[in-house]
Amino acid sequence: MLEVKQVHVAFKNQLILKNASFTVEDSMIACLVAPNGRGKTALLNVICGLVPSKTGGIKCNGISLRSKRRAFLHQLFYVQSTEDLFGNLTVKDHLRYVKKMWQSTIDITKVLTRVELTNSQNKQIQQLSLDKKQQVLLAMAIVSDAPVLLMDEPLNGLDVEATRKFEEIFVELRGQGKTIVFASHQLDSIERVSDKLLFLKDQQILTVENMGQDVEMQYGEMYLT
Ligand SMILES: Nc1ncnc2c1ncn2[C@@H]1O[C@H](COP(=O)(O)OP(=O)(O)OP(=O)(O)O)[C@@H](O)[C@H]1O
Ligand SMILES: [Mg+2]
Repeated sequence: MLEVKQVHVAFKNQLILKNASFTVEDSMIACLVAPNGRGKTALLNVICGLVPSKTGGIKCNGISLRSKRRAFLHQLFYVQSTEDLFGNLTVKDHLRYVKKMWQSTIDITKVLTRVELTNSQNKQIQQLSLDKKQQVLLAMAIVSDAPVLLMDEPLNGLDVEATRKFEEIFVELRGQGKTIVFASHQLDSIERVSDKLLFLKDQQILTVENMGQDVEMQYGEMYLT
């Protein structure tokens, strides 16, 4: 479970979030939704402690980022983007590293099969296309076995088939009890997999349950009128 309470984020004179709060329970997928530049990435960076929030607090399974940073970080997995992968290391190197760092017992071979990376496991990251790199990030999240998984635009650069595969895996992970938060502009995917929509608007987070409504219409009402 992830609890974000009254976070305040500003860069120089630009206020991004003011007293913003939300909760995402176990076995739940929440999607951060907003137009470019509203602060989705900034919020993910705040949640994992890369960007400080002056006020409020963040907890993963009851463990506070402020007072128990190390234990808190063990509860979550987040790598902001494929740009953060090590170009000259292989796919398998990355998975082994994550397995060790998160002290996980997940079988890397099974994850490679599930994410369809078996044939690329010994390739260097710099040899991979964007969709494969996105698969590596997803595989790393699975291998970490962390209860809370954060992802920033994990569906970027994926074709329809790959997008559907990612959706299937998100749903499987939810079934295993994971708390998943991801930012995306793919409103159709969000409509299919999310339990909660987290709209960033007016420096606040508006939480809306996904009751099967038309997310594109809701987005239009929120941002395009
Ligand atoms: N480290 C930083 N220093 C200064 N300004 C920043 C920093 N990170 C983000 N910003 C600014 O904060 C605002 C929100 O940026 P952010 O990248 O979080 O938006 P986003 O919702 O993720 O957008 P996108 O959909 O394009 O990914 C932008 O105006 C950006 O320029
Ligand atoms: Mg972003």
